[in-house]
Amino acid sequence: MSAKNKIIIDTDPGVDDAVALFFAMAEPDIDILGITTVNGNVPVDRCEENARKLCEFAWHRDIRVFKGCDCPLKRSVVNAEWVHGQDGLAGMDFVQPSYAGETQSAVDFIIETVMNATEHEVSILAIGPLTNIATAFLQEPKIIPRIRELIIMGGCFNETGPRGNTTPYAEFNMFADPHAADIVFRLGERITVIPMEVGQQVRADTAYMERLRDLTTRCATLCADMLERTAERLAAKTGKTDENETGTSLFDPCTVACLLRPALFSGRYGTVQVNTDAKNEKFGMTLFEEGTKRNCLIIRKADREAFLSMLADALAALP
Ligand code: RIB
Ligand code: CA
Repeated sequence: MSAKNKIIIDTDPGVDDAVALFFAMAEPDIDILGITTVNGNVPVDRCEENARKLCEFAWHRDIRVFKGCDCPLKRSVVNAEWVHGQDGLAGMDFVQPSYAGETQSAVDFIIETVMNATEHEVSILAIGPLTNIATAFLQEPKIIPRIRELIIMGGCFNETGPRGNTTPYAEFNMFADPHAADIVFRLGERITVIPMEVGQQVRADTAYMERLRDLTTRCATLCADMLERTAERLAAKTGKTDENETGTSLFDPCTVACLLRPALFSGRYGTVQVNTDAKNEKFGMTLFEEGTKRNCLIIRKADREAFLSMLADALAALP
């Protein structure tokens, strides 16, 4: 029996977060110790309720959900309803969750869990803005060396072309709280960064959405519906119609696959600088630095077919 990967998922559900959460719930080698939510795609109250809706929808109401920071460390609040819908889940009609969220704060849960576990036992998948993670690092720096692996979806390191999906220079998770990202990248250890361009490599196109529908499980069908609606919203907003540019990028689910099968993802070691100048047009932009401070593995390429098959197999295993 392989040892389970004990993880905390810090998230802002969010359509691609929802796919990532289902992915993790389906994996027998993953033990989700808790889901912590953060202001991001939609306000944190909605993120927290969405996390409970998704757990219950997948018959996993045993998973504890915690509410986290409702605003960034320094900058003004930004959200992404234009992508994920006002409700954060593409307007899908969920029943209200029948179980309550936890009263403990997300940051206190992260600290308590990592401090009570043995060293290098707990990994964190950070798939929203890094406000909770940075706050936990500042509140209790002792957790930093104890974390097994911190896998972050965020940033962009394209040498050519767009450097962001929220501004021409910044990816959303970084742009939504650049100061938190700066703290995490400066203080963190054993960080794997999966930037937006990798999520774009494994985007869900129309054919993939049909592949999910053919699985005929409720979670796979729900994912297909949410991804399809998001793809339509993005096409309407961006005007892009080319098959290579449409569909929906699977940003957040990459963190789950990378935890379990890191060989599907290749990259380079270095560290990450974040632009924290709110007056600069490049506010929230991330820069890769090869240097000597090599606390980050920045992923550059994913095995698209292997990833998509892994995700489909996981969703087929859910109710
Ligand atoms: O830029 C993509 C990231 O921002 C994803 O985590 C998505 O859910 C949004 O939070
Ligand atoms: Ca997210």
